[in-house]
Amino acid sequence: MERCNASLQVAIIYTSDDYLSKYFVYISGEYISAAKAEIDTLTRLSDCNTSVHWDGRIGLVDSQKNLTPFFLERAALVKEAGVLLSETDLHDDLFDRLSDDILIDNIRPGETFSVRTISENGELSINDRLAFESSLGEHIKQVAGAKVHLDNPQARILVVFTRKCIRVCKSYASILRPMLRDRAPGRKPFFHPSMMNATLARVMCNLAGVMPQEVVLDPFCGGGGILCEAAFIGARTVGIDLNWRLLKGSKLNLSSVGSSFNVIQGDVRDLPVNGCDCIVTDPPYGRASSTRGAQAILLVEDLFEKADSILRRREGSICICGSSDMKLQNLAESKGLTVSQVIRFRVHRGLVREILTLGV
Ligand SMILES: C[S@@+](CC[C@H](N)C(=O)[O-])C[C@H]1O[C@@H](n2cnc3c(N)ncnc32)[C@H](O)[C@@H]1O
Repeated sequence: MERCNASLQVAIIYTSDDYLSKYFVYISGEYISAAKAEIDTLTRLSDCNTSVHWDGRIGLVDSQKNLTPFFLERAALVKEAGVLLSETDLHDDLFDRLSDDILIDNIRPGETFSVRTISENGELSINDRLAFESSLGEHIKQVAGAKVHLDNPQARILVVFTRKCIRVCKSYASILRPMLRDRAPGRKPFFHPSMMNATLARVMCNLAGVMPQEVVLDPFCGGGGILCEAAFIGARTVGIDLNWRLLKGSKLNLSSVGSSFNVIQGDVRDLPVNGCDCIVTDPPYGRASSTRGAQAILLVEDLFEKADSILRRREGSICICGSSDMKLQNLAESKGLTVSQVIRFRVHRGLVREILTLGV
């Protein structure tokens, strides 16, 4: 009987709300609203009770399940993710508040570790940060019996200073981001300047909630930048393009991913497909891609009119990227599509791009 009570007590301690259930993500500064939207969609896909609160670029993830491996493998704009070990008010003493038990549970004796700091508001000087890193390093060495190793540590302790508080996290670096760098358009077997870069292509696939085995259509597939990322997620891909040379290139690129795909020479105004789960696409704009005289906006209008008959998944199943002067939101609404997200970002002085998530 006594034994039973003891194990129950341990169980209660380990499932307490402010310990095992708090995680974090740290997003890249490139496209902040896209990064937040990406996390939003991925938490919905994960199908567990999860909420995320943002404090600058750090997202505090309250979840019954540890989604860290999923974020590190799937999200294009998550730089790091992991477990939140402590959260201390700026005026409190971090060393008093940081529990020894939490350090001992997360860093084993003899394990190597590093401490890095990020000052979200930029108010901490580099010297203050270095001094803090070395005193926390010393503290962890004494409490957990671990060894400092800055180049290739087994445990990475990340400390994020914001305006309100200091957060100590056990952090893991993105698995996907180095792979996305290797999958840049110029490193693919076939390259064309109109191709979508791998990071944006992955963000768009995530915003459309692409899942393994789903059928993803890009009706302006060009060299297949978007379809390659859908294929890496494990989707089956269908590409259509007017340009035969680009289609041959997309075939080469998709073959190198090694998943099942179909590419068809065709015109978006006469699409030979239905039964798709999502459409992820970027219509032609600028000088890099030709429309053979057609107005790009009219091509998109045609696609929006047909989306309902092409798609079997209804909610948030279209992700489209275009320049802001195409006014895609107005067009989508006028065709009866549901606009769930509009994300704008400046590419250069004259060009603002928009990513829209739509439902049919
Ligand atoms: C911006 S590029 C697409 C890039 C591609 N989605 C990617 O992921 O790399 C636009 C493409 O639209 C194609 N296109 C232009 N007019 C078209 C039409 N009427 N029907 C189908 N494709 C068309 C162009 O040949 C070009 O490859």
